[in-house]
Amino acid sequence: MVAPKIAFIGTGHLASAIVRGLLTNGACAPADLAGTSKHGASAQKLAAETGLTFEPDLAKLLGGADTVVVAFKPQALAAADPRLADLTAGKLVISVLAGKRLTRLAQVFPRARNLVRFLPNTPAAIGAGITGWCAAAPLSPADRALVQSILDAMGAAVEVAEPHLDAITALGGSGPAFVFEFVAALRDGGLAAGLPPEIAKKFAAETVLGAARLLARTGTDPETLRTQVVSPNGTTAAGLQVMAARQFRETLRDTILAATRRAEELSRD
Ligand SMILES: NC(=O)c1ccc[n+]([C@@H]2O[C@H](COP(=O)([O-])OP(=O)(O)OC[C@H]3O[C@@H](n4cnc5c(N)ncnc54)[C@H](OP(=O)(O)O)[C@@H]3O)[C@@H](O)[C@H]2O)c1
Repeated sequence: MVAPKIAFIGTGHLASAIVRGLLTNGACAPADLAGTSKHGASAQKLAAETGLTFEPDLAKLLGGADTVVVAFKPQALAAADPRLADLTAGKLVISVLAGKRLTRLAQVFPRARNLVRFLPNTPAAIGAGITGWCAAAPLSPADRALVQSILDAMGAAVEVAEPHLDAITALGGSGPAFVFEFVAALRDGGLAAGLPPEIAKKFAAETVLGAARLLARTGTDPETLRTQVVSPNGTTAAGLQVMAARQFRETLRDTILAATRRAEELSRD
């Protein structure tokens, strides 16, 4: 199969993760990929590191591409080059811009053959992300395969109805921050219990990593795995009693709801 040419507008952290993932997975050759950035430096660096073609001329960049990955900051969409409407005509446009809905994207890319919205999270940088995504119109089999290959470069993916993307922004997009906060709290608990800082830090991080891998490997629900750790009147039971009394679950539910409400607010433009 001849790989379609993919152009990246914006070559920062996320675009770089996608490019590296596509090359590592063997989904594309460097010659299939081109990109530009606002000042050129990030695109030139990515080109030097991966073999992608740096093409600062937007018309040339998009003229040679079948698929366009839009990967600049969401705030930059308002000032996007008006030529994009014509230059993306007939192309598959994939946006990773947080909070920019398909109706808004359609104003900037009105003649694209289809529009796809990705909502990844930061572990995508090491191929361990999870992306919620949706398309404006049903994807052709060829476009679906192409979209899947780009999703695979970032980790796991779930196709959802667009209204779910606000909750996915909260759970998946902001989720790593909540997990890092949890790890920091575990570390601080270890410190309070008398552990040296380096040991508390290592045990907090490795315990979360190991528990997450066990969860993924077994496919068992978290409550079952939790119960396997608990013995009557033991140490885990003593800790879980405090978590319940301090309303740990309610706190995290409210955390996700607050982040979802904020995602809804930010998506309204
Ligand atoms: N990082 C993540 O894990 C993650 C997760 C979910 C969603 N996203 C989304 O991914 C997008 C990019 O995030 P990021 O973390 O990769 O940002 P980033 O590292 O700051 O990269 C932004 C890139 O966009 C370029 N750029 C800015 N304005 C531009 C313009 N007008 N035309 C062309 N290129 C332009 C920048 O160019 P210069 O370097 O030349 O300034 C840079 O290459 C955002 O929309 C964000 O919502 C990211």
